[in-house]
Amino acid sequence: MGILDGKAAVVTGGGRGIGRGHCLHLAEQGAAVVVNDLDADEAAKVVEEIAQAGGKATPNSSDISTREGAAALIAQCVDEFGAVHAVVNNAGNVRDRTFLKMSDEEFMSVVMVHQAGTFMCSQEGARRMKEQGTGGAIVNTVSAAHFGNFGQTNYAASKGAIASMTYTWALELARAGIRVNAISPTGSTRMSSTYRGADGKEVELPFIDPTRNGAFVAFLCSDHANWVSGQIFGTGGERVVILEQPAYGNAMYKDGGWGVDDLVAHFETHMRKELEPVGLMKNPYPFHDGIKPPGR
Ligand SMILES: NC(=O)c1ccc[n+]([C@@H]2O[C@H](COP(=O)([O-])OP(=O)(O)OC[C@H]3O[C@@H](n4cnc5c(N)ncnc54)[C@H](O)[C@@H]3O)[C@@H](O)[C@H]2O)c1
Repeated sequence: MGILDGKAAVVTGGGRGIGRGHCLHLAEQGAAVVVNDLDADEAAKVVEEIAQAGGKATPNSSDISTREGAAALIAQCVDEFGAVHAVVNNAGNVRDRTFLKMSDEEFMSVVMVHQAGTFMCSQEGARRMKEQGTGGAIVNTVSAAHFGNFGQTNYAASKGAIASMTYTWALELARAGIRVNAISPTGSTRMSSTYRGADGKEVELPFIDPTRNGAFVAFLCSDHANWVSGQIFGTGGERVVILEQPAYGNAMYKDGGWGVDDLVAHFETHMRKELEPVGLMKNPYPFHDGIKPPGR
């Protein structure tokens, strides 16, 4: 008996890394799983691994950054398993480059896989769930890089967009019984091996088992989490942590509103100490001395 008995799930990018862990956990909990990956050999290996453990899975090698790929993926789940109850948007790529050097191709490649892929797979899946009348669960994947990360304009922007889509779909899809959440995972993978520090140098990271995120994804897809929607959780390692939603912070008020002269006179007094650290690493706010053109 598993918490997902009788359910059918799709995992994008499930052939390796973090997505593989999601597939293994979903199958172990009784879900029939469509293991999607552009890399068909890797998807087939995960399907085999699930079969060896007594679970049910089928491979799919659609490119989820295309509408045809997203539609074919969800259709395969419905054709082979009779329905789709969960869509786990995990597939990802990186094309890191500092902002001033990033090409349109590098920008769009990442936006299409992360942001557009998540949009299209979720839309195809949610339409089916609505038709079925079963409700369901969507689990998206963000990253703390969406707080801002050096060299990741494309990736940070896509992950930020996915967070915003998660909040929006949770509001829109509740009436169809569909819950929408996201994880911000962690794990040692092909992708994490590309991480660089702000100085552009390789960073030594401890090994973190990438499959550890999967248990929480299985929980989110189950009826045990039927009260959880519109939330983002940091997962992986030994933790599950709520990722706080962006919110307005300290304010300053003035009768009739703030004019430019008032702002010049008072903004610094009120707000200098209130400005927040920026970026994934949340170093202390570094710009108090002013940002000046080079050499001045
Ligand atoms: N590894 C981490 O610490 C970490 C941290 C934060 C977020 N993430 C996110 O977790 C997810 C998984 O990352 P990972 O570290 O396992 O990376 P990974 O590179 O090991 O795996 C990603 C998989 O997605 C597949 N894929 C890429 N484009 C695809 C497409 N168009 N269609 C179908 N499959 C495609 C790849 O073939 C690959 O197997 C990504 O969304 C990533 O942004 C990872």
